[in-house]
Amino acid sequence: MTDWTEIERWDRTYYLHNVQAQADYSFLAVDRADGNYIQLADGTRLLDFQSQLVSDSMGHRHPAAVAAVERAMARYGHVFFGMANEYRARAAKLVIEDVLAGEDWPGRLRVFASGTEAAESAMTMAKLYTGRPVILTQAHSFHGSTMGATWLRGYRNCLNPADDPDRVVDAPGFPSAGYIPIPPPEPIDAAVDGTLPSIAATEAIVRAVGPENIAAVITEPMFGAGGLMPHDDYYPALRELSKRHGFLWIDDEVLCGFGRLGEWFGYQRHPGIAPDLMVVGKGINGSLLPSGGVVASKPVAEYFDRARWWSGSTWDGHPLICASIVGNLEYMLEHDTLGRVREKGERVLAELTRLAGRHPCVGRVGGAGLYYAVDLVNADGEPIVPEDRYTGFTGDPARHPNNLIAAECARHGVLLGGFVPNTIKVAPPFTISDEEIDKGLSALDAALTVVDRAHA
Ligand SMILES: Cc1ncc(COP(=O)(O)O)c(C=O)c1O
Repeated sequence: MTDWTEIERWDRTYYLHNVQAQADYSFLAVDRADGNYIQLADGTRLLDFQSQLVSDSMGHRHPAAVAAVERAMARYGHVFFGMANEYRARAAKLVIEDVLAGEDWPGRLRVFASGTEAAESAMTMAKLYTGRPVILTQAHSFHGSTMGATWLRGYRNCLNPADDPDRVVDAPGFPSAGYIPIPPPEPIDAAVDGTLPSIAATEAIVRAVGPENIAAVITEPMFGAGGLMPHDDYYPALRELSKRHGFLWIDDEVLCGFGRLGEWFGYQRHPGIAPDLMVVGKGINGSLLPSGGVVASKPVAEYFDRARWWSGSTWDGHPLICASIVGNLEYMLEHDTLGRVREKGERVLAELTRLAGRHPCVGRVGGAGLYYAVDLVNADGEPIVPEDRYTGFTGDPARHPNNLIAAECARHGVLLGGFVPNTIKVAPPFTISDEEIDKGLSALDAALTVVDRAHA
C-alpha cells in the first residue's frame, strides 16, 4: 500500500514544482491511469477530458502501445544512435510511407525524447540549411520551455558541408539568437475581406528584417497552449509568403499532429500546402513515453544526407520510444482512428455550439476534430482576464475562469480546464465514447453556469 501522507510530504518538500507557487500548491496525486480515466489517491475517478496536456491522445496506457513496448523490452533497453535498431527503422517507415502516404514532400524522420528538443532541432536544421540567423515566431504560440544548449558552443554540434568538407559550421553558429515575433493569426471567426491584417503585418516585418536573413517561420496549426484556431485563410497565405520570400516553414505539430484535428496533421486541413520541416511529439505514441521528432522535407533531408553532421542526444531513436510509436501508429492505421476522431468531434462540436448559445460567458468556440478552444468573456464580450493569451498569472488565480471551470468539472468527476485563463481546452482522447462525451460536456455545462454567475 502506498503511504500517501509520506508521498505528499516528500513531494512538497523535495520536488521542484512547475506553474504553482509552493504556497498555492495543491497535491493532486494520481494513483493510476487507465483508458480514459485517472484515479486519484483518495479514490476519486476523473474522466480525462483534456487528455492531460492535449497529449495522451489514445487514453492512458493504450494496450497496443503498451504491448509493443513490452515486446521491445524483452530485447532492448537503450541503443545509441550510432547503431540501428529495428523499431527506429519501423517508426520512420510508418511515418513517412504510411501515415504520410500520398504526400511527396517528406524525406526523413528523426526521433527525439521531447517535442521541445524536436522544435530546437528543427530550428537548428533550418539555420544550417539556409545559412541564415533569424526565426520568425508567432505571438501566443508555444514550442517548449528550454533555452540555450546549442548556444553554449562547446566543441560539439557542428556540420561539415559536403561540397566543402574541410569547413566546419558551428550549429547553430550565429551571433544572436535571432527570434523575431510576428502577429498572431486572426481567429477562425474573424470577418476579413481580402488579405488578413496579420499576413500584411508579417510581410512588413519580413521586408524590414530582410528575407535574406530569415531561416524560417515556426508556427502551430491550432495553438496548443494559447488555444487559438487560426482563420482558414491564414496558413495558405503564410506559406505563400514564405515561398515568395524564400524562407522555410517549420510546422510545429507536436500537439495537433497524429489526428487531433481530424487529419493526420493540421497543415492537411489546407489542401496544396506542405511544410519544409515538421515537428512532432505527443500524439506520435499517445505520450506513453517521452517523445518528439522532426520530419524533414526531401530537399532538407538530402542536404543533411550529404553532410557530416555531429548532432543529437543520447536518446535519439531510442528503441523503446520507437516501439511505442510503432505500436500506436499501427493501431491507429488499422482501426481508422482518424475516422473516429471526426465522428466523435462532430458530436462534441454540436454540443459545444449548443452550450455557446445558452451561456453568455462563451465568446467563441474554435477548433476541429477532437480539439476545441472555448473562449470565455465578460458581459461586454471582452476577455475576462485582460491579459488573455498573454497571461502573467495576475490577480487571484482561484477566480480565473479556467480554474473555476476546472474546479467545478472536478466536482462532476471530469478533468477539464485550460492553460491560459480565458480559454478552456476541450480535447478528449480519441478513445472517448458517446456516453463519456455527454458526461464531459454536461460537467462543462455546469461549470459554465458558475462562470456566467461570476463574470458574465
Ligand atoms: C506546439 C508544441 N510544441 C512543442 C511543445 C513542447 O513539447 P514537449 O512538452 O514534448 O517538450 C509543446 C508542448 O506542449 C507544444 O504544444
